[in-house]
Amino acid sequence: MGITIRQATIDDIQAMQNCNLHNLPENYQLKYYMYHILSWPQASFVATTYETDLEGIDQDTISQPKADTAYIRPGEKVVGYVLGKMEDDPDAKDKTPHGHITSISVIRTYRRMGVAEKLMRQALFAMNESFNAQYVSLHVRKSNRAALHLYRDTLNFEVISIEKSYYQDGEDAYAMKKVLKREELEPYLFQKSDLVDDLSTDLLQEA
Ligand SMILES: CC(C)(COP(=O)(O)OP(=O)(O)OC[C@H]1O[C@@H](n2cnc3c(N)ncnc32)[C@H](O)[C@@H]1OP(=O)(O)O)[C@@H](O)C(=O)NCCC(=O)NCCS
Repeated sequence: MGITIRQATIDDIQAMQNCNLHNLPENYQLKYYMYHILSWPQASFVATTYETDLEGIDQDTISQPKADTAYIRPGEKVVGYVLGKMEDDPDAKDKTPHGHITSISVIRTYRRMGVAEKLMRQALFAMNESFNAQYVSLHVRKSNRAALHLYRDTLNFEVISIEKSYYQDGEDAYAMKKVLKREELEPYLFQKSDLVDDLSTDLLQEA
């Protein structure tokens, strides 16, 4: 069973919300997902799996995928998402085009497999390529070790400041930022495979 990373569409928003509700205290109404996808369709991505062996799956889930909101169609479910946007506040001080990661989440059973890294790399590349984002910012809870590792150590975001009591429960946030340079963002640079497609040889024959 492989994992596919692709642009999020309006059809995915309920499954994205499902993934958010199970993993994060910061939750949003469906219209907020819709706003992101309609305004910046290139900036949000989902990770999906497709169960090829449908025999093992509850028949109700197959015939009525909406019974489980993780499913977007029979056998296919959303296991992670990243919701991205461009800065659109006309009163924002910095007029440089820049993006913001609103939310990211991967369901528990699919963590530590590189899914979040792939979602983030696709979103960073797309924001730069499609909207000329010069940098991307985000907030993360001080206590969120997994997300901090992802942003700071894997993706090289820098901590810009600490925002006191940023979250509703009073926890502080790190405000983080990554400057985007197109030549460093191409997703193929991070495919972690010895096989690089030079587009001339038949990789299937080589294997
Ligand atoms: C944070 C989260 C999105 C990471 O997803 P993931 O798919 O497991 O992350 P990846 O597998 O891509 O891992 C990326 C890096 O983070 C590291 N990492 C992942 N989980 C970690 C953990 N619990 N503790 C320490 N490091 C962790 C990985 O080892 C990897 O590091 P590497 O590049 O040095 O190998 C996931 O834990 C999650 O959904 N958490 C709940 C929602 C959340 O906190 N979202 C962020 C809000 S700001």
